Amino acid sequence: MNIVTVRDYRALSGMAAGIIASQVNRKPNCVLGLATGSTPIGTYENLVDMFREGVVDFSKVTTFNLDEYCGLDEENPQSYHYFMREHLFGHVNVPEDGVHIPNGMAADVEKECGEYDEAIKRAGGIDLQLLGIGHNGHIGFNEPDDVFHDNTGMVRLTPSTIEANKRFFDRVEDVPKTAVSMGIGTIMAAREVLVLAGPDKAEIVEKLREESCSPRVPASILRYHPRCTLLFATAK
Ligand code: GLP
Repeated sequence: MNIVTVRDYRALSGMAAGIIASQVNRKPNCVLGLATGSTPIGTYENLVDMFREGVVDFSKVTTFNLDEYCGLDEENPQSYHYFMREHLFGHVNVPEDGVHIPNGMAADVEKECGEYDEAIKRAGGIDLQLLGIGHNGHIGFNEPDDVFHDNTGMVRLTPSTIEANKRFFDRVEDVPKTAVSMGIGTIMAAREVLVLAGPDKAEIVEKLREESCSPRVPASILRYHPRCTLLFATAK
């Protein structure tokens, strides 16, 4: 994993958007893996600006989002469907049928997850996967565990993730306890991975420099990815 330290969040967002736009310009029909959380918001703002300036065109792009809470429908402002519409899809020209986000409302979640992985394979695999990172080293919603989970599946959120994400909800009790997340194997199969970490992630980024690979720190597996860059902003 190549860890690149950048000056601040603005620089991180500009750089990440540049990397994504270059990918789209190099391969207009590419498959992007997309992330939510507060860290990629600046990246999406830059991409929207670039789209408006005619620097990038998403008309042939296919996207797969990392995760979604269970039990929140698309119109719920805390859902990741809503987030993606607000921050990206509502402002750029990714075709509607090219957008894929796990369905946290699915009656048969297991079936839904299997189909999600199949759809990624059918699309030719992910060219560039964007990731944020949790304070506990989670990627997507793959929480610290005894084993790495390969495929997209339903996961139970840890108390620390519920605590970290409660800022988006009125009450901590409203934070869903489960989510659907791309698996570690699904993420590792992406041809390139770009991880974004702001200054609040200094501790976990330090751990990733030192620690050997362990499912207790899910992001640590990224050290074995052949093309993974982590952009770390040291200031807001
Ligand atoms: C959530 C998401 C992750 C994201 C993480 C960090 O738990 N499921 O995909 O990386 O939050 O979010 P933030 O960037 O807001 O710190």
